[in-house]
Amino acid sequence: MPVTLVVGAQWGDEGKGRIVDFLAMGASAVARYGGGANAGHTVQVGEKTYKLRLVPSGIVAGVEACIIGPGTVISPSIVLGELDALAGAGVDVSRVWISDLAHLILPYHVALDRAWEQARGGASIGTTGNGIGPAYMDRVARVGIRAGDLADSRRWQQAVRDRCAAIRAHGVDVDANAIVAELEAQCPRLMPHVRDTIGLVHEFLRAGKRVLAEGAQGTMLDVGLGTYPYVTSSVTIAGGGESGLGYGPSHVEHVVGVTKSYATRVGNGPFPSELHDAAGTALQKRGREFGVVTGRARRCGWLDLAALRYAVAVNGITHLAMTKLDVLDEFDEVGVCSRYAGGDPAASLPFAIEAGAKPVMTMLRGWRAATSAARSWNDLPREAQAFIAHVEAETATPVSYISVGPERSQIIVRPGAPLAQAAMAR
Ligand code: GDP
Ligand code: IMO
Ligand code: MG
Repeated sequence: MPVTLVVGAQWGDEGKGRIVDFLAMGASAVARYGGGANAGHTVQVGEKTYKLRLVPSGIVAGVEACIIGPGTVISPSIVLGELDALAGAGVDVSRVWISDLAHLILPYHVALDRAWEQARGGASIGTTGNGIGPAYMDRVARVGIRAGDLADSRRWQQAVRDRCAAIRAHGVDVDANAIVAELEAQCPRLMPHVRDTIGLVHEFLRAGKRVLAEGAQGTMLDVGLGTYPYVTSSVTIAGGGESGLGYGPSHVEHVVGVTKSYATRVGNGPFPSELHDAAGTALQKRGREFGVVTGRARRCGWLDLAALRYAVAVNGITHLAMTKLDVLDEFDEVGVCSRYAGGDPAASLPFAIEAGAKPVMTMLRGWRAATSAARSWNDLPREAQAFIAHVEAETATPVSYISVGPERSQIIVRPGAPLAQAAMAR
């Protein structure tokens, strides 16, 4: 069976974790294809809440393999801490596999990330401070260290010392001895999880088993197609699944784009539909919009359909999953950005935004009724149905999953939704 891919269709934190958790019940393997511990994916099952940063969200559903793929960047201390926390919560972590091709994030990457942010001053990107950019930079510059390199201790230790010397020459103080000692101590616990994951993914595919590819961050944070330079440093879009896991495009059957019913962004950079009024505050409060990783308050705005159409196009989204519908329950009117006006119409979307494109808003009737107990389309108020139908018409894409609360069961599945039958049967 082929790949189903889950991708963030906005600026991250769309609720990918909860959608992956649901779909994982119909899959055999779940695999992260990009990013690192800058991600924070939340899964809530009953009273238990799991906050996952590197381990794929399928871990809670209990799939056969949870893969941290070649396109990711791994902080040994964070991944080990996460495995410990999960094991402590009674989750079986023996099937978590880290690609031998994944690059390591070491303390000097974190030091560089912070130093560069500080140097940018008022123009800072607002990174999560996890060393993501510097780690991907080392990868591209061909001076990175991969998880698989840890098998040869003499070589990786020399590589760490070489990098530290180069970084110190740029005025950032890093302690090579301390980094080597820490990593050496971590190796015996890390190495049993490190293996070739490309072969593993293809074993599943050959056996006709479903692989769920889990995106991190969101389309507008993609290093190339997002709102550069206010982006992360990885390929977040669906295409990143191919280079980030090692399968070809012909394996992908569905691309599920996850969007909130409104929009949020954490960190700096353009956000055309951002609200600076009471509605924005209400979204922030009702949606509990604080970052999982940094605790920062997320900026809030209405759903941006222009950006969502862009996400549908660049990812080839076949189905949308709309989360947090319940957050809109108390509004008299619910806004959407229908299109941008101004800017340069011949420019690609990030440049159009930069050139001053302004959102053209459409206000739709709110429903002022609780949706959190709804479990089918017919349980939703008419105005909520109309809101979703509007999104479908404007994006020419079916909204196949609607979540009305953070808990696993708070999801409405529409006819034709991929993997839903298997998930519901569990
Ligand atoms: P991710 O990074 O895309 O996985 O998303 P995050 O976990 O960072 O942020 C999503 C937040 O919204 C988490 O706190 C979820 O528990 C919560 N959430 C997800 N779906 C819903 C929903 O339908 N309703 C509400 N109220 N909260 C939700
Ligand atoms: P998930 O997977 C939201 C943002 C940061 C910053 C920019 C660059 O939970 O959706 P980085 O540390 O990656 O160099 O920061 O990207 N960012 C995210 N925002 N959700 C995320 O992940 C993010 N990962 C990075 O806030 O603006
Ligand atoms: Mg998140």
